[in-house]
Formats: sequence, structure tokens, C-alpha cells
Amino acid sequence: MGSSADSQSTLKVLRMAMEGCASIKLSDGETVLNHALWCAHQAMNAHCDSPVVVAALFHDIGHYLCAGDPELADYHRDREHATLGARWLARWFPLAVCAPVELHVDAKRYLVTVDADYRQRLGAGSLQSLNNQGGVMTSEEVSEFRRAEHFESALLVRQFDDVPFNGETLSPYLWYESIVVSVMR
Ligand SMILES: [Fe+2]
Ligand SMILES: [Fe+2]
Repeated sequence: MGSSADSQSTLKVLRMAMEGCASIKLSDGETVLNHALWCAHQAMNAHCDSPVVVAALFHDIGHYLCAGDPELADYHRDREHATLGARWLARWFPLAVCAPVELHVDAKRYLVTVDADYRQRLGAGSLQSLNNQGGVMTSEEVSEFRRAEHFESALLVRQFDDVPFNGETLSPYLWYESIVVSVMR
């Protein structure tokens, strides 16, 4: 990151986006903000590297970016929120953050394809969006996924993404800001 003034204005943009995530609900009724804090909380508990914690925190920010567009049907939101979020984050964050965000949907498709038990761990909403997202991968898609940079981080984020929220008290977004700053480009 350039000057501290730059990083302060970036933090403000991110803070506003995460505040916006408090009024957007996922298909299971959970807000995008709570889901983000839950995933980041799990990443902290698992002692993940800071880029993975930040990726977990922002992985669904694409839902916020799509939210103002009434033209965007669920089909497109399901498919594109990962790419949209990653591209937006790429202004400020390195690939170690953006790649897992971009790949978190493909990580679900990958795990459904290679792990026979994984499908049973998915919630109803996640199963429903799976078809919109391309469903089971071809063997070429599996190989391509494994060649992608940071695909292991995407699998970690996906692992947290799929755990239903257990209701515990979560640290607020501001608690994560020092970690967010530490991984900015
Ligand atoms: Fe997502
Ligand atoms: Fe998610």
C-alpha cells in the first residue's frame, strides 16, 4: 500500500461495504456480514495465514456488489459473485487474498466432484446454487483447478464457508482491520 492516507481511504471503503453486507441475506437467511465474520472466526481458530483470514472475511463481498442491481437474477449472482468480488478486491490485495475469493465457488464444485461425502455437508441453499454454478467438474476442470495458484487456500475458505453458524459471539469487523491492513499491497 502507498501512503497511510491511501490505506485509510481503502479501509473506509471496505468498512462501508461490510456495513452494507449487514443488510444482505444469503439463501439460508444469514446476513452476508455475519457469514463473513463466522468464516473469518473459523480461519483464526484454525491458525490460518493472514491472507486466508482476509479471504474468508471478504469471500462473499460480491453479493454486496451485486445487490444494487435489480436486473441481476439469482442465477447470475450465484455464478458471478466470486469473480466480481475478487476483481474488486484486486485493487488493494495480492493474489493470496483474491485467488481464494475467486475460487471459492469452484472449490465447492471441485469437492463435490472428488469427495463422495462432501455433498452431504452442503446446506440446502448451497446445493441449490451448485447447478447454477456449473455442477460437477469435468476431469479437465479438476486438473485446471489443481493448477490454480492458491487453490489450497480456496479449499480452506470453502471448508469454513460450509460450516453452519453455531450462534457463538463473533468479533466485529473492526477487530480484523489490523489484519486487513497487514496484507494490503
Ligand atoms: Fe459465495
Ligand atoms: Fe460464503
